[in-house]
Amino acid sequence: MPTPHGESISRSRHQTSGKRRAAVRRTEAAEGGLTHSPAHLKLRDVIEQLLPAVVAVVEAGADESHEPLLAEEQDALGAAVPRRRDEFAAGRSCARRALSALGQPPRAILPGAHREPRWPVGFVGSITHCSGYCAAAVARADEIVTLGIDAEIHEPLPAGILDEIAVPGELDWLRTRAGDGTCWDRLLFSAKESVFKAWFPLAGRWLDFEDARISFAPGSGTFDAQLLVEGPRVAGIEVRGFSGRFHAGQGLVLTAITMAAR
Ligand SMILES: CC(C)(COP(=O)(O)OP(=O)(O)OC[C@H]1O[C@@H](n2cnc3c(N)ncnc32)[C@H](O)[C@@H]1OP(=O)(O)O)[C@@H](O)C(=O)NCCC(=O)NCCS
Repeated sequence: MPTPHGESISRSRHQTSGKRRAAVRRTEAAEGGLTHSPAHLKLRDVIEQLLPAVVAVVEAGADESHEPLLAEEQDALGAAVPRRRDEFAAGRSCARRALSALGQPPRAILPGAHREPRWPVGFVGSITHCSGYCAAAVARADEIVTLGIDAEIHEPLPAGILDEIAVPGELDWLRTRAGDGTCWDRLLFSAKESVFKAWFPLAGRWLDFEDARISFAPGSGTFDAQLLVEGPRVAGIEVRGFSGRFHAGQGLVLTAITMAAR
């Protein structure tokens, strides 16, 4: 698969990761998610606290209406089941509202060849959705180099997934937290998805779950992601990792990564 950077994404690794992700999403659908959960609405302020003030973030719950897709976005989405159409439209609606908060007029946010949202020139951003929840975060590129956000239902991962997404040090650490009431396996998964969303716009190539090691600092609600493969270059300097913040509560886990421009 050619990328904007002329590199290749390994199809087999991509497909393996896709199967893991699909297994996680199937569990969410079976559980019915957090649809109409009032507690979930309390997250509104939480995600803002995970992100610097220069980032505009807009959330939507399952019970909130969203703006319709623009014509080009409908074309780009093509035929999709109602659930996929809804989450795509909710993400675009949140993204447009976030861009509006930064003074941008409404415009289509089309997906790239690898599903990445193509933000207006001069802006970076990220979208996430899980059952009953959607958020988009956007910033000016001269303030934030890249960002990634991810939301997941606060439940243990389906059986078999953790061993496929964790590297040895992570598994050791997770064992020390067993039974403390937080689904650290789910947070690990979410942190890695945020890493991917922050990584992809810089690198333009695939990053597998085994290609980054996450270290959580529970006391401060922060985490570090160490890249275990060569990183992309920003202003001539190799990116060796990312820093993020996390939250677990109100039925969801949230992770957010930002890389400041200065
Ligand atoms: C791309 C991926 C992270 C998205 O996760 P998801 O299960 O769809 O979950 P979310 O709802 O939180 O995020 C979906 C959004 O991510 C964004 N996204 C998808 N591909 C992207 C990419 N290549 N780069 C940046 N953002 C991307 C999109 O905005 C998408 O929503 P949309 O299709 O409605 O626009 C996931 O499908 C995946 O492929 N993961 C494997 C790669 C990975 O995580 N590696 C770990 C590295 S440590």
